[in-house]
Amino acid sequence: MKRTTGQYERTSVAGEEVAAFIPHPLPPVHPVLSLTDEQLELLRRAEASLRRLDLAGEMVPSLDWFVYGFVRKEAVVSSQIEGTQATLTDLLAHEAGGSQSAARPDVQEVCNYLDAVRFAREEMGRKDGGLPLSVRLLNQVHARLMHGVRGGEKLPGEIRRSQNWIGGTRPGNAAFVPPPPQRVPEALSALEKYMHAEDDLPPLLRIGLLHVQFESIHPYLDGNGRVGRLMIALLLEHSALLSAPLLYLSLFFKRHRDEYYRRLSAVRTDGDWEGWLGFFLDGVGTVAEEAIDSARELFALVTRDRGRMLAVPDGSMMAARLFERLPEHPMLTVANIMELLDTTRPTATKAVHALVNVGVLTETSGRKRDRTFVYTEYLNVLKTGTEL
Ligand SMILES: Nc1ncnc2c1ncn2[C@@H]1O[C@H](COP(=O)(O)OP(=O)(O)O)[C@@H](O)[C@H]1O
Ligand SMILES: [Mg+2]
Repeated sequence: MKRTTGQYERTSVAGEEVAAFIPHPLPPVHPVLSLTDEQLELLRRAEASLRRLDLAGEMVPSLDWFVYGFVRKEAVVSSQIEGTQATLTDLLAHEAGGSQSAARPDVQEVCNYLDAVRFAREEMGRKDGGLPLSVRLLNQVHARLMHGVRGGEKLPGEIRRSQNWIGGTRPGNAAFVPPPPQRVPEALSALEKYMHAEDDLPPLLRIGLLHVQFESIHPYLDGNGRVGRLMIALLLEHSALLSAPLLYLSLFFKRHRDEYYRRLSAVRTDGDWEGWLGFFLDGVGTVAEEAIDSARELFALVTRDRGRMLAVPDGSMMAARLFERLPEHPMLTVANIMELLDTTRPTATKAVHALVNVGVLTETSGRKRDRTFVYTEYLNVLKTGTEL
């Protein structure tokens, strides 16, 4: 039996009659989900890999080591999926430059994404009445994401009040027409309810369902992809599948973008929830394994380089302290170091040169002033997959 996952409503947009899709509330029924053995195996693998990724954070002195890099990686790649041109290197260079440099618009978008993640996690973690995972929280995430950039005229933080469409040059040849605006609030309350509902589906499957549902509702004028992917990260934490945003799942979506879009569509056109879930679970398992490998590689690199640094006679106390901060600051200037280590310019400069001499840091800007130093080998591991 072919499942229907929503109903169509005729509506008129930009002078054309189109059929807008209104998704049925989750979970799928008639028939209920039925995963193949292979899909169930993908589920087990994804769950196991997430557990191991969570443990990888325990290898290092502070979980923030990996959170720092992996959240940035997710922010960059999720933004790249729909055309943002900023790379991880651009982001780190901007951050090292501090407030003096106005960000390029695409780098600003990525900074906004980081700000939105930080905000949402803080709200969800607050004991004194922060916002729970909810539509209100997502609206605030959206407001931050759209802050000051291209989306300025795109109602930051607000649910759309007009009809939109995806793909195609006009509504009539669109790949997909989401629900009419007056249907959106109801669809979103149902989505929110399902985030907190208790049913017998494993949390990871529910998260997969929620992402598609969010994209089907397409509640904002822009930024739906990024908010919907950020929601996955928040849900993983909310469901205690991860204790920090360590999974850069967008890398899988970027790598298989056509399939990602095709699978989203197939839920609507063919009722194929299972096909989407198989793809999603494969992505979670694959990226979790890749993140575990990178975490190991980064850890091994730091261990090796710490040894090298301690072996040289001119290794000062300050150089050792600077070294320990590099995983959370793989690109920095002398001004950054002065602030980080609360020290003077001559001392900071001396520490930097000690790390340049042992081959840990490299000067990359080629400038005489405001020189930028990079932990190149570390950044090379981290940036895999984030180039354009
Ligand atoms: N055929 C489709 N059906 C449902 N959702 C889709 C489809 N194609 C793309 N999408 C989703 O829409 C997103 C793009 O919407 P948009 O509002 O421009 O988001 P953003 O600005 O964050 O990229 C894609 O990243 C994807 O998640
Ligand atoms: Mg967009």
